[in-house]
Amino acid sequence: MSTLTKLALGAMGQLRPKPSRGDAVPKIALPAPDRTGGIPLMEAISKRRSAREFARQELPLPLLSSLLWAADGINRSDGGRTAPSAMNAQEIDVYVALPSGAYLYDPSANALELVAGSDLRRVTGYQDFVDEAALDLVYVADHGRMKLVPVASRESFASAAAGAIAQNVYLFAAGNGLVTVIRAWIDRDAIAGALGLGHDQQVLLSQTVGFPKS
Ligand SMILES: Cc1cc2nc3c(=O)[nH]c(=O)nc-3n(C[C@H](O)[C@H](O)[C@H](O)COP(=O)(O)O)c2cc1C
Repeated sequence: MSTLTKLALGAMGQLRPKPSRGDAVPKIALPAPDRTGGIPLMEAISKRRSAREFARQELPLPLLSSLLWAADGINRSDGGRTAPSAMNAQEIDVYVALPSGAYLYDPSANALELVAGSDLRRVTGYQDFVDEAALDLVYVADHGRMKLVPVASRESFASAAAGAIAQNVYLFAAGNGLVTVIRAWIDRDAIAGALGLGHDQQVLLSQTVGFPKS
């Protein structure tokens, strides 16, 4: 769908998901992430960049699992995560929009929980490439988990945490043959509606990930 059509639909509150391709299963058990792959950190930093052209190809499940673990998975026995969190509130949830449905990443279970049985990739942003790339991540802050954070700081702290997750994704992409772009040009109400979010949940950013267009 073109950006212009999306802008028009968004203005009317009509930016809606597509029916899903394939069966949306209630839970996807992810294989164990590969914590050793990729390329040296300094090379990944050298290669980090935003891309806006994606192949239609989906990610194999092992690669998706490692991507999500790198993004914000559990990397310590005390439950600590790959991205920092102010006061360890762990307020960011990572949603994954796939052709088969939209899922919530559960780092403890290493699984994806179905939240919407439709393809809502196109709802995750105004730019046209978001519809066809392998997946779009959506970073959502749950303000209910930030009771200890001063109210005036909650949005900026959550945005900083989402930014750290996004950079993990950039570096993972750089080291694993993927491309990505973080995006703020999004219709937050449309995304919240499509994901069925509650009042305490705030859509912060979206990030497209996929194989590069050849
Ligand atoms: C908070 C934030 C929001 C952004 N929003 C968008 C966006 O909506 N669409 C987009 O194509 N790029 C977006 N970008 C990516 C920037 O355009 C990109 O990082 C910048 O042009 C520098 O290019 P580079 O990432 O390749 O170094 C965003 C970046 C940040 C940090």
